[in-house]
Amino acid sequence: MSWIESKKCSAAEAAEMIVDGDVLGVSGFTLAGYPKEIPTALADRAQRLHDSGVPFKITLFSGASTGDSCDGALARAEAVSFRMPYQSNPALRKAINAGTIKYIDAHLGKMGHLVRTGAVPCPTIAIVEVTAILPDGRVCLSTSGGNSVTYLEMAPRIILELNTRLGDACVGIHDVALPELPPHARPLPIYSAADRVGDTFVQVDINKVVAIVESSRYDEVTQFVEPDDVSRNIGERILDFIRFEESRGRLPKGLAYQSGVGKVANAVLSAMAADDRLQQIDLYTEVIQEAVLPLLKNGKLGVASGTALTLSESTQKEFVANSSEWKKHLIIRQQEVSNSPDVIRRVGVISMNTALEMDIFGNVNSSLVSGSAMMNGIGGSADFARNCMLGFFMTPSVAKNGAISSVVPYVSHVDHPDHDTMIFVTEQGLADLRGLAAEDRARLIIRNCVHPDFREPLTDFLEYSLKHAKGVHMPLALSRAFEMHEKFLETGKML
Ligand code: COA
Repeated sequence: MSWIESKKCSAAEAAEMIVDGDVLGVSGFTLAGYPKEIPTALADRAQRLHDSGVPFKITLFSGASTGDSCDGALARAEAVSFRMPYQSNPALRKAINAGTIKYIDAHLGKMGHLVRTGAVPCPTIAIVEVTAILPDGRVCLSTSGGNSVTYLEMAPRIILELNTRLGDACVGIHDVALPELPPHARPLPIYSAADRVGDTFVQVDINKVVAIVESSRYDEVTQFVEPDDVSRNIGERILDFIRFEESRGRLPKGLAYQSGVGKVANAVLSAMAADDRLQQIDLYTEVIQEAVLPLLKNGKLGVASGTALTLSESTQKEFVANSSEWKKHLIIRQQEVSNSPDVIRRVGVISMNTALEMDIFGNVNSSLVSGSAMMNGIGGSADFARNCMLGFFMTPSVAKNGAISSVVPYVSHVDHPDHDTMIFVTEQGLADLRGLAAEDRARLIIRNCVHPDFREPLTDFLEYSLKHAKGVHMPLALSRAFEMHEKFLETGKML
């Protein structure tokens, strides 16, 4: 019997190999390419142990968010004590905000580096979804790169979840390489989105593989929703601005695009695909999401390089059927590379990310509602925002049917300080903050981006601050900085 056959077992048997206190390093990034059968079986095991009074909790490290059969199942079974570096699952989010799971949301480009340098615990077991296992121990990763190579290299034990549904669709799509560690690390020679620097397979130490579990499940990605009017409006404003900058000679041809997660980000890509004036573009991004496909199908996509191919079930089937053609345009990298500040600067990226809220001085909050309740996490937005050539933060001007202004006096949590932000966009308009001092930024944001209902209170705050703040360099009256947030918490409305 080959070593591969000898390691095959059921998901329940593999789950038995995981012990209380283990640190799991799982594959998966933004609902793509995570193990499904093993975490589900592990959740069942945890539940059974808890029912009989036996404690059982693990630490869960991943690339980014995983689907409900991983993050959701484990959270509902109360099997997770600590989670890093990103999530988007309702059950997990609830536990994080209730304080029953400790969570650190980290820059996604840095997570692998933290593990490789020993800044956080080393995974005791890697659980990685693959689509092929070769007799010599090379494996083909599935729909995400994430931190899989790091976890496979660092963990002393490995469980492979072999997904048979994807056939050979993922063979050749990966570019498996990691940056060298400092000191004196040499750069990865990636100069454009299309550059490949690594292998397509990952070499695994077969002596570390303790189990192989077969699966045929799909990534649990919700069906793509066509953009609404507000999102479409934001997308068109961004495109108009890019064209304007190009016409002024301020943007060189050939920059790549990065698009963040969420419905507004999808809308921008859709607007690009529908725009006849747009030439072929490359993406140097984190998540290659469904909205990229119209660009590919109508010949406007050169190469999309990312760390995850996040597709709904019907589009996963389409990918399998058309993979030989689609793969000419797609590269999946490890997230330390897709989100590498060094590479992002060299490639030259136009970056577009969504904010939860932004303030009149240029700070952005991407992660914490009312400064304390976790939504998803910072993700890779800062990897791109700080290092891009041109950076947009976008959001509808109001949330919760107008009860909340997305532009506030001061953000309730700072993910992106004013030093790192360049351009704010809402459906009301666009504010180019580059080269503007604090008061000028505030006036421009209020005039161009704020919903009409909130312009007066924000102007009032600014005028008050100019009179009462300790200094006018940054006219921020501390006593009133959070008055809109406090009013929302008290009454359910910011006004
Ligand atoms: N205060 C409170 N809630 C707010 C809010 C605010 N200022 N702004 C938005 N919300 C709520 C919305 O009402 C919605 O709630 P619901 O799910 O109950 O309807 C939820 O937040 C999501 O907002 P939505 O408008 O649907 O946005 P989205 O799908 O475009 O996602 C983020 C927006 C910010 C949550 C998402 O982009 C994110 O997690 N970003 C951080 C990570 C990131 O940028 N990754 C990409 C990097 S490469």
